Amino acid sequence: MKALVLAGGSGTRLRPITHTSAKQLVPVANKPVLFYGLESIAAAGIREVGIVVGHSAEEIQSAVGAGDAFGLDTTYIRQEAPLGLAHAVLVSRDFLQDEDFVMYLGDNFIVGGITGLVDEFRRARPDAGILLTRVADPSAFGVAELGTTGRVCRLEEKPEQPRSDLALVGVYLFSPAVHRAVRAIKPSQRGELEITHALQWLIDEGYEVRSTVIDGYWKDTGNVSDMLEVNRTVLESLEPAVRGSVDTASQIIGRVRIEEGARVTGSRIVGPAIVGAGTVITHSYVGPYTSIAAGCRLLDSEIEYSIVLSGSAIQGVRRVEASLIGRNVDVTPAPAVPAAHRLVLGDHSKVQISA
Ligand code: TTP
Repeated sequence: MKALVLAGGSGTRLRPITHTSAKQLVPVANKPVLFYGLESIAAAGIREVGIVVGHSAEEIQSAVGAGDAFGLDTTYIRQEAPLGLAHAVLVSRDFLQDEDFVMYLGDNFIVGGITGLVDEFRRARPDAGILLTRVADPSAFGVAELGTTGRVCRLEEKPEQPRSDLALVGVYLFSPAVHRAVRAIKPSQRGELEITHALQWLIDEGYEVRSTVIDGYWKDTGNVSDMLEVNRTVLESLEPAVRGSVDTASQIIGRVRIEEGARVTGSRIVGPAIVGAGTVITHSYVGPYTSIAAGCRLLDSEIEYSIVLSGSAIQGVRRVEASLIGRNVDVTPAPAVPAAHRLVLGDHSKVQISA
């Protein structure tokens, strides 16, 4: 069995972060979200992984490399444009050959891994297997309608009137029958080859598509609030450790991890929180569910429930909350008079300013 990891796409919902970097590499507890998926694939006993890449190919390739660090053997597959999940399968035909494979969306996060699902697919060997989870707002997802025996009888992409609350989770299991399906379907109204259409084609042609409803935690980290939520979940089981230096005037409370070379002075850190290597925190407060990457500086500031990427500086600002801050960003207060905001924001930035 092989794996196909989708790490292309346009990432419009995570702009402006995705203007300069891949959304699959946004860190969750200081580790790229993609790495959690690759670890689950390796844990399921799969070694050969095709990684579908788009405009951020170089960045993904330099982060994952040949896959040795994960016990994987990676092949990079270039998708010239994000033309849909089924299109990603289409362009991966040579890599996949006639083997079964698990398709994993590189920005999805599944607690508990995929080992059980992969084993079950190998045992029952339907033509395709999908994962479903109950959601409150099915019209934002691909939605499945099930027959009496757990067989899938119908799939719809983002339906206005959903027939169930069972949404497709970003992991799919396929036999080589899917290659006929992705060749047979036509682009949808949004111009993409939809995987739901490929699955529906299989159902209509009499192939067996089975589903498993997972009750574990799953999130698509495509937008900022989901990203922060996944970060919160992962930090909750963080292994606490102090590898950097913390002076006696500082207080470290709860699950906190301070990496090598980090320096904490006159500050209060309330976990769960992680502080990356070489980051300097001075006279500041870091509150629960915060991940600060390597090489950052925090001075006279307060931050909580946020993700800060490497090389950024926050100085004299209270308080930053529910925020995703990119790489090498400077956040500073405006001069007291006049009361004005000076902004240098990238395209598609989102800022909330208290009036
Ligand atoms: P999506 O989140 O559905 O799509 P997107 O990346 O274009 O994001 P947005 O909606 O914010 O613009 O993609 C799910 C995963 O699959 C993600 O890791 C990107 C990847 N992907 C591809 O590799 N190729 C594609 O053609 C598409 C549509 C997605």
